[in-house]
Amino acid sequence: MTRVVLASSNPGKLRELAALLAPLSLTLVPQGALGIAAVPETGATLLANALLKARHAAQGAQLAALADDSGLEVDALGGRPGVRSARFAGEDASDGDNLRHLLEQLRDVPQPRRQARYRCVIVLVRSALDEQPLIARGSWEGHIASAPRGGGGFGYDPVFVPLGEGRSAAELDPAEKNAFSHRARALRALVAMLESASYISDP
Ligand code: IMP
Repeated sequence: MTRVVLASSNPGKLRELAALLAPLSLTLVPQGALGIAAVPETGATLLANALLKARHAAQGAQLAALADDSGLEVDALGGRPGVRSARFAGEDASDGDNLRHLLEQLRDVPQPRRQARYRCVIVLVRSALDEQPLIARGSWEGHIASAPRGGGGFGYDPVFVPLGEGRSAAELDPAEKNAFSHRARALRALVAMLESASYISDP
């Protein structure tokens, strides 16, 4: 079993990624369990932030590291909140603050113009200075509802309604979200890359 440090302390993400990686012989160790603090996400893009987080965790753990950076892109807001999704309502905003801020920003936007998508970039580095990180991407199309619904998921899930669905992402069964989400798609792409090369054991 190969140990890989997960550069996140978000319990929602850990749950989802651990479930998605369960079939592989990789054990995810959250960075917090190794005493590694989160690094400030100062990158201008999802990829820059994912690399920053992965390299920091790999350095602290002296292990291979997996990091994701994700965000919600809303067409009527010109792609915002995007890379700032976790801080949309301010630096120390909670998920609830961000969600309320999003609904407020979209108050006068009618349903046909509320298209949005989650995007995710996942990177795997074998060490802090790895010159050839694996990079995988995934997106999940949908729209923003006018009011929150459901108690599952995290973040913007109560107002994100996936394309072709009547339910919000927070009303989906965790297994359903894991089958379709941006993170699942990115991770499946990463797993396909890992399966086609002995990447971790053969740096
Ligand atoms: P990150 O931790 O820097 O990737 O921040 C991503 C932010 O985007 C989270 O704090 C959420 O606000 C939002 N986000 C990303 N993925 C999801 C998801 O699957 N559901 C709900 N919100 C998400």
